[in-house]
Amino acid sequence: MPSVFIKTYGCQMNERDSGAVAAQLQARGFTLAESEKGADVVLLNTCSVRDAAEQKAIGKMQNISASLRKENPKVILGFMGCMAQSRGEQLLKQLPAIDLVVGTQKFHRTADYLQEIATGGRRKIVDVSEEAGSQSEIRDHPVSPGSQPGTVTAFVSIMQGCNQHCTFCIVPFTRGEERSRTIEEIVLECRQLVGRGVREITLLGQIVTSFGRRDIPVRDTRSAFVQLLDAIHEIEGLQRIRFTSPHPKGYGDDLVDAYGRLPKLCESAHIPLQSGSNQLLKRMHRGYTRERFLALVEKLRLARPGIGLTTDIIVGFPGETAEDFEQTLSLADEARFDNAYIFKYSQRKDTPAASMPDQVPLEIREERNATLLQRINSIAAEKYQNFVGQTVEILVEGPSKKNTARFMGRTRCNKIVLFDGSSRHLGQLMNLKIERTGSFTLYGDPAIINLS
Ligand code: 5AD
Repeated sequence: MPSVFIKTYGCQMNERDSGAVAAQLQARGFTLAESEKGADVVLLNTCSVRDAAEQKAIGKMQNISASLRKENPKVILGFMGCMAQSRGEQLLKQLPAIDLVVGTQKFHRTADYLQEIATGGRRKIVDVSEEAGSQSEIRDHPVSPGSQPGTVTAFVSIMQGCNQHCTFCIVPFTRGEERSRTIEEIVLECRQLVGRGVREITLLGQIVTSFGRRDIPVRDTRSAFVQLLDAIHEIEGLQRIRFTSPHPKGYGDDLVDAYGRLPKLCESAHIPLQSGSNQLLKRMHRGYTRERFLALVEKLRLARPGIGLTTDIIVGFPGETAEDFEQTLSLADEARFDNAYIFKYSQRKDTPAASMPDQVPLEIREERNATLLQRINSIAAEKYQNFVGQTVEILVEGPSKKNTARFMGRTRCNKIVLFDGSSRHLGQLMNLKIERTGSFTLYGDPAIINLS
């Protein structure tokens, strides 16, 4: 049986796409390899959101092609996903060793293309064309090898693409226009997952809150996305629902209410802020103000006290002044995020911001990155510290990745908790008392399980 190794860069959407490709390849008789060594096929599923991500995948492919081709001249090498989409044919010129380039609307064709290449039907294949309905093809999930129990948490892709056109962002070019699946298809996939032992589902899309907005009418003041949450909430055996990423504009009152109404909807949200300066938000084409963002944070905390809030922030967007940056710092102080992902602005091909005047020098971007990181981390550390002595409910996902002697679960507000567990805890909801904190990790005491 041929083996395939898929390496994934970037976001959860990419993870999910890789999973769907892996499942499809398993169905065609491939085995999934743990590393590129000895694999018959190596696919890199790429990210384009910042230049560093593209360079990482290109560097990796250069290394792989140099070393693996020597050992196995027949190994098939390919790029998939966002960078494949944005660079297309050009990748073959840059890296003549590769055989396959599969864009973001063609993941489901990967198995066919590999077969064509392996049987000598075609030597090299590039397919980055659009395909109506491709959003519904990210549907299958790989099966874990051997008799291991299946995973407890799963991602489900509900929509693809983005029409927001933030001026810094390459995603509308790599992922195309917004296209949603139907509620029925999504519910069916979720039911099947729950049948396989999944207890927590995270709905995925570039802007999940835009789900179905053009195809599914608002009903009883509930948007298509909230109707989807309602439908999934009905699934028996499913314990927890999450979603990512929303757009702050997508938090209508119906969604805020859903937090109050739907007990399975976890009290956690990742809400990309990008900047705390109104002037910058406008030039980024974000469609909200700092005041509206802060009002949303307040509403969510009222609807679900203790809600875990994380965000994305870009530093050094073109024209960002010291005052603009101060506004971001002050918003971070007010919002008190549980964590934030901070990115140095990176010029992206064809985006309006790439040609804006007053690009910010790297030195300043780095300095602002460090300043903001410190602010975010010190607030986060205080918030984590507050958990010490509290009892929290976790869903046990499996052994800890770093130290397999420990088990790992997440709180409803999406904090990682480690404890001395065993495989009998897998998939269980447990109450643990938090004894201490690490950086962005909580440590729970199994001796007090279920006593509170
Ligand atoms: N430069 C830096 N960060 C970016 N992001 C998106 N585009 C860029 C860019 N050009 C960040 C945003 C987004 C996250 C996924 O990546 O913060 O929310």
